[in-house]
Amino acid sequence: MLISGRGRNLQAFIDATRDGRIEADIALVVSNRADAAGLGLARDAGIPTRVIAHRDYPTREAFDAQLIDAIAPLQPDLVLLAGFMRILTPSFIRAFEGRLLNIHPSLLPRYPGLDTHARAIAAGDAEHGASVHLVTEELDGGSVLMQGAVPVLPDDDAASLAERVMRDVELRIYPQVVSWCLRGVLTVAADGLRYEGERV
Ligand code: GRF
Repeated sequence: MLISGRGRNLQAFIDATRDGRIEADIALVVSNRADAAGLGLARDAGIPTRVIAHRDYPTREAFDAQLIDAIAPLQPDLVLLAGFMRILTPSFIRAFEGRLLNIHPSLLPRYPGLDTHARAIAAGDAEHGASVHLVTEELDGGSVLMQGAVPVLPDDDAASLAERVMRDVELRIYPQVVSWCLRGVLTVAADGLRYEGERV
C-alpha cells in the first residue's frame, strides 16, 4: 500500500486483514513523505514500512524506479494507492497494470483531480462519494470497480462532506472491492469487469 498522509484507508485494511474480511497480508507500506501519520499506523500493526521521498530523486522516472524496486520483489497480488499524492509515470503503471488500484474521493468521471468535495458543493450536487478504480496512465481515468454515494447536506462544507465520504464510503468500499478481487469474485478482463463470472 502506498500512502502520503493520515492513512485512514490503510487502517481500514489493517482492520480488515486482521478480522478475516480480507484474506491477505499487507506486505509493505510505502510513503513518499517521512511525516505521513499512516506510517505510525503501519508500524503499530507490525507492517514493514519504507519511506521513498520524491525529493530525493532528480526525476519522476528515478523516483518511480525506486518504488518499483521496493515493491516488485514482493510479488504483490495488488498494489493499492490510498491517499498517495504523487502522479505515477507510465513505467510504474506498466509494472503493475491490472493489479494497481486507487480510491478517489468523487463519483468518477465527475471531478478527477483535487479539491473534489469543494467542487461538488460549488456545483450544487445533491450527492457526492468515492470511487475505487484501476490505475491507468490517464489520471483518475481507469475502469471504476465500485462507487459509493452520500447526500450533500445544505450546511456541508468541504471538511464535513469529506468526513462523511471517508467514513460512510471510502472505509467501506475499498476493503470490500479488494476482498472481491483477491477472492476472484470480481475479475478484471481485457474487455471489462466480471462479477461472479458474469460480465458487468
Ligand atoms: C482520501 O480522501 C482518499 O480518497 C484520497 O486521499 C485522502 C486521504 O486518505 N485519495 P487517507 O486518510 O490517507 O487514507
